[in-house]
Amino acid sequence: MTTPLADRFGRVATDLRVSLTDRCNLRCSYCMPAEGLDWLPTDETLTDDEVVRLVTIGVEQLGIREVRFTGGEPLLRRGLLDIVARSHALGVETSLTTNALGLQRTAQALADAGLDRINASLDTVRPETFATITRRDRFDDVVAGLEAAKAAGLGPIKINAVLLRGTNDDQAPELLRWCLEHGYDLRFIEQMPLDAQHDWNRAAMVTADEIFESLSGEFTLTPHSEPRGSAPAELFAVDGGPATVGIIASVTRPFCGDCDRVRITADGQVRNCLFARHESDLRTALRSGASDAVIAERWVVAMRGKAAGHGIDDETFLQPDRPMSAIGG
Ligand code: 5AD
Ligand code: SF4
Repeated sequence: MTTPLADRFGRVATDLRVSLTDRCNLRCSYCMPAEGLDWLPTDETLTDDEVVRLVTIGVEQLGIREVRFTGGEPLLRRGLLDIVARSHALGVETSLTTNALGLQRTAQALADAGLDRINASLDTVRPETFATITRRDRFDDVVAGLEAAKAAGLGPIKINAVLLRGTNDDQAPELLRWCLEHGYDLRFIEQMPLDAQHDWNRAAMVTADEIFESLSGEFTLTPHSEPRGSAPAELFAVDGGPATVGIIASVTRPFCGDCDRVRITADGQVRNCLFARHESDLRTALRSGASDAVIAERWVVAMRGKAAGHGIDDETFLQPDRPMSAIGG
């Protein structure tokens, strides 16, 4: 019998995001400072067995139907293949959010281990803009990684892009054209206040409406007929379809009312929302001999406290203490 991960507003979490590390080999300016962060100590990071135990409890007792591994950069996690294989063996859809660096070497092995899909981050198709945003000159490696993922059957490949005013906000159409040519599904995400430096500024954010305008200068976008459900992207058919582009208006048109996600950080804390200001510690329970039933109960309680919405656009919004790289997208 399973107990749903329900909150007080009638939402049920079925989509689990697990951060496997807070480390990353890029330094995207909207995420991290150039020098990186104080990474989690190894002994505070969940072991492979601990990760798999939590995923198993989520799937077998709490109604989780989809598992996505994130970071930081999850490809940096040594035990990734094993974690993916054991998660796949539970019979749930298993995916990865990655920056695609190194995917050239591992895509086929990941597919063989049972990985279903990847989401990758790519904000530009100009190598020099890529180096400006990520502070690393690795554009060609990312492109090779994406190609390898496609060849390994890890599709449909979704690309997440963030536009930054004055850096790549004029590049939306060319990024879309490139993705269409390569058969990748592009989604733009409004920049959220999740950077470690706390530099986010509402006025500097490129809004979903601006992104729509910019794309409409070169493409005809028509609302896609499929219902949005809990998928955050507003989908548009491009030039009559079948290709689509998504725009995720996380800030200006939040979709919290339909949220079906729950997150576990690399150090074993349940977060009921990306923007939660409170976490529930499962690592201590795991390491003090708690039974699966006790861990499941703690997780259920953690979900009940989920807030109705993140309120980023409110005057009173407070950014969470942890940056995105430590929470997991
Ligand atoms: N705002 C919006 N998206 C972000 N990402 C990382 N930081 C932010 C932010 N502050 C995106 C990355 C990646 C995914 C996990 O989230 O581009 O694709
Ligand atoms: Fe790394 Fe992703 Fe953060 Fe970029 S956004 S620095 S790829 S964790």
